[in-house]
Amino acid sequence: MAEEIWTAVDRYIGEKLLPPDPALEEALRANVAAELPAIDVSPTHGKLLHLLAKIQGARKILEIGTLGGYSTIWLARALPPDGKIVSLEVQPKHARIAAANIAQAGLSSLVEIRTGPALHSLEKLAAEGAGPFDFVFIDADKENNAAYLEWGLRLSRPGTIVICDNVVRNGTVVDANTADAKTQGVQRFFDKLASDARIDATAVQTVGLKGYDGFAIGLVR
Ligand code: SAH
Ligand code: DHB
Ligand code: MG
Repeated sequence: MAEEIWTAVDRYIGEKLLPPDPALEEALRANVAAELPAIDVSPTHGKLLHLLAKIQGARKILEIGTLGGYSTIWLARALPPDGKIVSLEVQPKHARIAAANIAQAGLSSLVEIRTGPALHSLEKLAAEGAGPFDFVFIDADKENNAAYLEWGLRLSRPGTIVICDNVVRNGTVVDANTADAKTQGVQRFFDKLASDARIDATAVQTVGLKGYDGFAIGLVR
């Protein structure tokens, strides 16, 4: 019952507030055709990311975890014409599909996808003097969330917004004895958020088309 009503309400909100969007719909179709896992953010959550990046006035965005570029498209659309989003992806196939999806959305000039393990790409970005980024979206392998937060902080400035996806994981985040490595990664991420003086954060639980999960939202001091 609960899950049915969340799904219906998420669909209702989408139908009311998100007009038909051929580029995003085509990206999801291409992801299915390429057999990518359907773990993109939902439409209403993609729009939330888009609005937050716009509210921020973000000109430079860092995304960790591209998949097929669904969230990348939402975020890139928040950028001004001279803005940029750098998105990090370990799987060459995902990066290739994402690049095609972003091209058909007309956003290639705003997006740079870097293929390879994100920890390596982040080190390289820092060495290049990239950043500071105005907005950071962490959505890759949950085991490395705490390390991604550290890199996000190093590549940020006071006022940068940091968002991390999937921090509730069907509620398993509260299980101190969990054997699940992803949940443990999320717990280490919360420990770092709690103890790192460089960021001020909260987290919100979400329900909807993608089940029960949540976002962490932080502001760099
Ligand atoms: N942000 C996307 C979903 C990302 S799914 C969206 O909402 O549309 C997580 C992605 O992180 C997957 O494509 C996976 O291949 C990638 N990933 C996993 N481990 C990674 C790593 N070590 N470095 C970079 N990307 C990684
Ligand atoms: C997983 C990853 C995600 O980014 C997501 O939104 C949902 C699930 C996963 O690795 O299981
Ligand atoms: Mg996610």
